Amino acid sequence: MISTQALLLLGPMRTLLAALLCSVSAFAYDFVGPETCRGCHPEAYARWKLGKHARAKDSLTPAQKKDARCLSCHSPNENDQGFAHVTCETCHGGGQYYTAAYVMKDSELVRLVGLVDPSEKGCRTCHDASSPSLKPFDFVEKLKLIDHWSAERAKRAGEKPPKPEQKKK
Ligand code: HEC
Ligand code: HEC
Ligand code: HEC
Ligand code: HEC
Repeated sequence: MISTQALLLLGPMRTLLAALLCSVSAFAYDFVGPETCRGCHPEAYARWKLGKHARAKDSLTPAQKKDARCLSCHSPNENDQGFAHVTCETCHGGGQYYTAAYVMKDSELVRLVGLVDPSEKGCRTCHDASSPSLKPFDFVEKLKLIDHWSAERAKRAGEKPPKPEQKKK
């Protein structure tokens, strides 16, 4: 974790963002929507679009689409953010402040202003005992089924070959 003092030493841009962060951190960040992510992450978008998260609301009948209980997992950010299904920002956090290219390239800053590293715990907020699957949720196996990052990382590796110590990733 980076201290506020360290942030202040890192120049005016970060000072500004740190101040901004302090003033907004009590609230959830607004969503920009998957089409915005698509502009810079076409591979990740294409893979997500093929999966069930991108169609989660479509599994509900018209009556169920009005049931807040069902929407809480099948379309959790529709009423507050206006984006249906289980979308990029449901897992990665609202992109209001982190989607500018210069922020996205800074792995510390991007997390300070809202990018979330999706965790097993996050999956389990929906994939739990009250969802209809007969089998218990196996994180490692299920993670493979939503892989939209390998293509991203391959592209990045092709553009600038990774340093030897990064090859394991
Ligand atoms: C203006 C272009 C742009 C937009 C829009 C954008 N990204 Fe990014 N994103 C990038 C760049 C550039 C990187 C850094 C990749 C690299 O290191 O080469 C990145 C990195 C990431 C990473 C990895 C960050 C890390 O440090 O591990 C995630 C996750 C991510 N983006 C998710 C998203 C999501 C979700 C959205 C939509 C809400 C989004 N991005 C919108 C350009 C963008
Ligand atoms: C706690 C989160 C959660 C809630 C609440 C929830 N679901 Fe689901 N639902 C899931 C998950 C996760 C799956 C996928 C399970 C799997 O295949 O492992 C799922 C799957 C389904 C499927 C099967 C979709 C398919 O592709 O076969 C239907 C239909 C469904 N849910 C309807 C509903 C209805 C109707 C409600 C409200 C009464 C509801 N769900 C509430 C999490 C939830
Ligand atoms: C169900 C949750 C979930 C959804 C929805 C989701 N992601 Fe992800 N995303 C993840 C997880 C988990 C990882 C990291 C996997 C790992 O590191 O093993 C990831 C990784 C990434 C990465 C690669 C980061 C890196 O380090 O290289 C990018 C870029 C990304 N996601 C963008 C998106 C975009 C764009 C969307 C929507 C089109 C999206 N994600 C939808 C969970 C999700
Ligand atoms: C906001 C709730 C939510 C979160 C968070 C979430 N999921 Fe899901 N997921 C769902 C719902 C709802 C479905 C069922 C979609 C449908 O078919 O209607 C689903 C379906 C799936 C499926 C396809 C069905 C299956 O079991 O094969 C996989 C794989 C999956 N999720 C993996 C993950 C992983 C891995 C994470 C965490 C990185 C995650 N999900 C986070 C709600 C969620």
